[in-house]
Amino acid sequence: MSRLSQPLRLEGCQALVTGALGGIGMAICDLFVAHGARVWLADLEPADSDKARLALEQLGGADYLRLDVTDRRDWDRAADRIGDRLDILVNNAGIAPTGELENLPLEQWQQVMAVNCQGAFLALATLASRLERAGKSNDRWASVINISSILAMVGMPQATAYAASKGALRSLTKSAAVEFAQGKRSIRVNSIHPGFVETDMTKAGSDAMSEAGDLLETLGRETPMGRVGTPEEIAYAALFLASDESRFMTGSELTVDGGWTAQ
Ligand SMILES: NC(=O)c1ccc[n+]([C@@H]2O[C@H](COP(=O)([O-])OP(=O)(O)OC[C@H]3O[C@@H](n4cnc5c(N)ncnc54)[C@H](O)[C@@H]3O)[C@@H](O)[C@H]2O)c1
Repeated sequence: MSRLSQPLRLEGCQALVTGALGGIGMAICDLFVAHGARVWLADLEPADSDKARLALEQLGGADYLRLDVTDRRDWDRAADRIGDRLDILVNNAGIAPTGELENLPLEQWQQVMAVNCQGAFLALATLASRLERAGKSNDRWASVINISSILAMVGMPQATAYAASKGALRSLTKSAAVEFAQGKRSIRVNSIHPGFVETDMTKAGSDAMSEAGDLLETLGRETPMGRVGTPEEIAYAALFLASDESRFMTGSELTVDGGWTAQ
């Protein structure tokens, strides 16, 4: 069955996706639009850049916000633009500098924490009232999806700052989920933990870390299913968490890793 012949699972929903111009972000936006959502793409590129324009052309039914997730003023501006309700928020923006712990500059540690974890905190703090309004205005709670990583659960050399930031994002997810649910705010918060997925991020990591060339190929071989994932395979997990089919889930972690963490 083609995905467009399935019932629309996000009809009438307004969604915001950060890091929307990257591999996983774009796949999420694409699937959300195909399922009837009005999507705000948010990323660092200026709105009049070729990349942003092309993305909007490709999707149709979407809008663009230039937004640095580490900057509170950008979040305030975004809140003004999107209006008074938001059904779905995907905190997907991320960076992944690599390097041995002892040689990692403090500025790099701080930057990865700021983008991968503080960004989600600022998003929640700024948009909670809009999410709550959406959650209370119909019978489906608003859904926040934090894109963490399997490195929140298992270790990897040369990835300490990235792994620590994703572990913090996993913890933030659970406490926010409980706080919102117990506070009767009608907002669910869950995390997705992708394994290795072929995008610009992993291609860059592969180039930086691998002397002999294809680290992605090696990671694929070491994954029980014998390959790395595709952005679309992560997007389907996001679609499930965004839709009402996951309505009894909050504070959960959904691992999509071809069996990596089951080993
Ligand atoms: N690719 C993988 O194997 C993998 C595995 C686990 C988790 N993830 C996570 O998935 C998410 C998406 O990664 P991807 O693989 O699509 O990478 P990507 O590099 O293709 O996309 C990341 C996007 O985030 C944007 N971004 C970076 N800093 C930003 C900021 N300060 N404000 C707003 N946007 C910013 C970038 O411009 C880019 O468009 C990330 O959080 C990443 O950590 C990826």
